Amino acid sequence: MWSSLPHIRRMTKLAYTFGRNGAAMSLTRAGLPVWFCKGFSLISRSGLPAREGARLQLAFAEMGPTFIKLGQALSTRSDLIGEELAEDLALLQDRIPPFPTHRAKALIELELGAPLELLFSDFSETPVAAASIAQVHFATTVEGRPVAVKVLRPDIHLAFKQDIDLFYWLAGHVENYLPAARRLKPLAVIKTFEESIQKELDLRLEAAAAQTIKENTALDEGFYVPEVDWQRTSQSVLTMERITGIPVSDVAAIDAAGLDRNRLVRQAASTLFKQVFRDGFFHADLHPGNLFVGHDGNLIAVDFGITGRINHRDQLFVAEILRSFLKGDYRRVAEVHIMAGYVPAHKNVDDFALACMAIGRPIIGKPLEEISVGQLLGQLFKVSAMFEMETQPQLLLLQKNMVLAEGVGRMLNPHINMWQLAEPLIEEWAQERLSLEGRARFFAEEAKEHAKQLPRFFKKLEQGMDCFDEQGIRLHPETIAEFTRQKEAWNRRWWGISVVAVLLLALLVFNA
Ligand SMILES: Nc1ncnc2c1ncn2[C@@H]1O[C@H](COP(=O)(O)OP(=O)(O)O)[C@@H](O)[C@H]1O
Ligand SMILES: [Mg+2]
Repeated sequence: MWSSLPHIRRMTKLAYTFGRNGAAMSLTRAGLPVWFCKGFSLISRSGLPAREGARLQLAFAEMGPTFIKLGQALSTRSDLIGEELAEDLALLQDRIPPFPTHRAKALIELELGAPLELLFSDFSETPVAAASIAQVHFATTVEGRPVAVKVLRPDIHLAFKQDIDLFYWLAGHVENYLPAARRLKPLAVIKTFEESIQKELDLRLEAAAAQTIKENTALDEGFYVPEVDWQRTSQSVLTMERITGIPVSDVAAIDAAGLDRNRLVRQAASTLFKQVFRDGFFHADLHPGNLFVGHDGNLIAVDFGITGRINHRDQLFVAEILRSFLKGDYRRVAEVHIMAGYVPAHKNVDDFALACMAIGRPIIGKPLEEISVGQLLGQLFKVSAMFEMETQPQLLLLQKNMVLAEGVGRMLNPHINMWQLAEPLIEEWAQERLSLEGRARFFAEEAKEHAKQLPRFFKKLEQGMDCFDEQGIRLHPETIAEFTRQKEAWNRRWWGISVVAVLLLALLVFNA
């Protein structure tokens, strides 16, 4: 009980903040009781936006960095929170006031183990950008190289840990006491979220990702990744070559510099295609703020905090699906899902094919420049979820990134389809990989995957037998059911006690 107190206090703050921003009722989606949320709705301030998503945005932003990230993560899970809310949360801004520069400098000195003057001859007092996890300063190294230095927010690890602990506590309660909300798998969602943020909280990983993509794309024309300065990089500090370029969203400046926008669209499509389908490792945050155009017309990417990995099997899976869609072979789309093991074989292929046609036909019938491959995939994943396909985070990330990249393409030229420009490349790839030999490799990999499952299967079998043989007890199913009933009754009581405690604390804290 006592160990729960910090969580209860923080949850009160959460409910209060959500209440003030008119978003308390949204907490019922996380499994909190309706009467509890209604109580906090009473304190909502006036003049709030009408849309639930917009009010949630305000609440998440006010709760700080972890919540901003959680909101953004949830925005990709329309399967859990619904289309409309997901769209609104995607607009959650990741720009928050900077932290003091002296703290950034102190952190750099501490982690790099040298006074700032020995590292940089010049360090900008004002950051060029500040987001929920880090901020970026421009600087010049003592050797005279212009660099951009990304520094994690001080105390971000602690703040993040407190919030994540609260999420686990809450998710645990929801899973234990509210069976109806179990379908949302709150513990699994939080675990995935924690893992992705943990990665972003170590800038050495971002540096390594940048370096890897730099090496993978070294020979590709028209795409550039800034060099990592490893001597000035640590867990909380990432120093990279400073690039100068025009933000990709500044179309007027791109034109003024006499650069060919169509060429840029082709470069964007081609680099994303190569990273995904050739290297299997891709920059997964291709929004306009992370893309620049160099004066030589090269596309430059920064910010490698979010990257995606896709294996050979999924590369072929996605390629085969898109190819079949474009050919109008909807039955094949359905079959590929079953072949890849993503949709259980007992599902009716014809029904699945019909559902694929229902989403494919309206899209494929559009003029080419209006077709979004990313959106098509997004719709498909929704349909496949109805056919019991488990969410595949790597495919969801790819799909979201395609939508982002297509947005950049449309910004540069609304009249062309970026994939059309990359067509020769796609053709060449398809000929090689979807050839007989390519398919043979696909099946070989399939076989390997299945083989990997076998030891787990035997282990499970073994564990099951241990339980009966060594302990020598065999509980009657009725006994087990009775235990479960008692546990759930106690759980419900405990939940009631927690909620009353929260309310009492709320009164104490906010009337103080
Ligand atoms: N190597 C760089 N050269 C020049 N500017 C950079 C560089 N890296 C980052 N920036 C600037 O800092 C901003 C934020 O950096 P980014 O890595 O995208 O951080 P965040 O993860 O907070 O979005 C970028 O949008 C860009 O304007
Ligand atoms: Mg960025």
